[in-house]
Order: sequence, then C-alpha cells, then structure tokens
Amino acid sequence: SPRRFFVGGNWKMNGDKKSLDDLITTLNTAALHDETEVVCGAPAIYLDFARSNLDPRIGVAAQNCYKVTKGAFTGEISPAMIKDCGVDWVILGHSERRHVFGESDELIGQKLAHALESDLSVIACIGEKLEEREAGTTEEVVYAQTQVIADNVKDWSKVVLAYEPVWAIGTGKTATPEQAQEVHEKLREWMRANISEAVADSVRIIYGGSVTGANCKELAAQSDVDGFLVGGASLKPEFVNIINAWH
Ligand code: G3H
Repeated sequence: SPRRFFVGGNWKMNGDKKSLDDLITTLNTAALHDETEVVCGAPAIYLDFARSNLDPRIGVAAQNCYKVTKGAFTGEISPAMIKDCGVDWVILGHSERRHVFGESDELIGQKLAHALESDLSVIACIGEKLEEREAGTTEEVVYAQTQVIADNVKDWSKVVLAYEPVWAIGTGKTATPEQAQEVHEKLREWMRANISEAVADSVRIIYGGSVTGANCKELAAQSDVDGFLVGGASLKPEFVNIINAWH
C-alpha cells in the first residue's frame, strides 16, 4: 500500500499513572517499525502526562473534545486545550461516544470541523451495529456516517477514517480479514465516487474491534486495511506486535 500504516491505541477510561508509566516505558524502549505511525489515545486528565512521557516519535490523541474553543461548558475540553498540552490528535465519533453518550452525527460533524480548524488531526470513527449488519444495512450506515464526516472535512491529509463494527468492539469477536477488507474497499470506492480519486487513494482506513497480537497480521495483509484502532490490547505489551504487524 502507498499509504503509511497507522496504529492508534485507545486507552479509553483505563489506567492510572503507575500502569500508564509502565506501558509508556514499554513503548519508549520497544523496537517500533519507523514506517508505522503510532498514536495513543489517553484519558483527558492524562493527556499532559502521556505527552510529557511518551517518546516524541509516538503521537498522542484525546478521546473526545467539544465543538468550540472555550466557554461555559462544564466538564468539556477544547481542541485549543489539547493543542496547548502538545497533543496533535483527537478521536471523534467513537462508538462509545455515539451509543453510550448519545452523540449525534450532527454533533460529531461540528466537533470534527472545529477540531480541524484548530489544527488537530482526527481519527474519525464509524461502524454499524449488529442489528444493522444482520439487516443488511452495513453499507448504508457507514456511507451515511462517512458523508457527515466528508461534509466537515476540507483537508483529508489530517483525517484517518476508523471502521469499527460495533459488534466487534470489546467483544473478542473480530471481523474476519475478508469482512474488514470488504467494507474498507467499499468505503474507498464511495470516497472515489463522492470525494475524489486522490482522497480515496491517500486516506488511511483503519480497522478497530478486538484486534490482538494474534489476529493483526492477517488483517494488516488486506490491501485496504491501512492500520488499526486498538482498545484492550493497546494497554498490553502486545500493542508492540500490533504496531509491527505490517512491513
Ligand atoms: O477504539 C477502539 C475500539 O473501540 C476497539 O476496542 O480493541 O477493545 O475491541 P477493542
């Protein structure tokens, strides 16, 4: 693939300073393939800690942000604050934000536009629920989610698209390499038809959902799988094997 392999770790609401320090030491001292871009998604309160302690070759991401720079929005953080901590990425539209916290496509689009205007890069997440897959509406769902993302992006070089089927997240039920490849390929075709040839060829489409050291190589071998967004396994030393899955 002409696209640089991208591996994001999403720590979600896990870890403490002690355990994250151990993980950071593991990552800082590991032999990581230079060709792979690595970004770790830390809880908001540990963004500064993660950025100060992780080797500069490893990026840091916030797991969410609000849609304006500052103001009376108790409990929220802005892209400006994320940048101020030296952090360059944010994860938006994650399935848990959509389904546990009820974020709409509209809000995710507004957050995305503001994050990009604020010079953050974005891991934008999409994916169908089990009932949608079973009803045969996977394509319809992920195209509609991608349309909302596309409506809010001018510079696609700052966006990584993460396809995360909801039924595969945290369940141990990974999409097969064929299932992942099929959706990634269709998403790229959709982008070719609806955005541009150049964007379709260059955008990294990464897979998330129960990725492990054991299944990452087969997934990484698929031509339209340009990396991963890893939850549970990103907190373990095997994250190093996932980073090095591709060569
Ligand atoms: O953002 C990561 C995804 O939600 C996947 O999580 O690897 O624990 O299934 P998981």
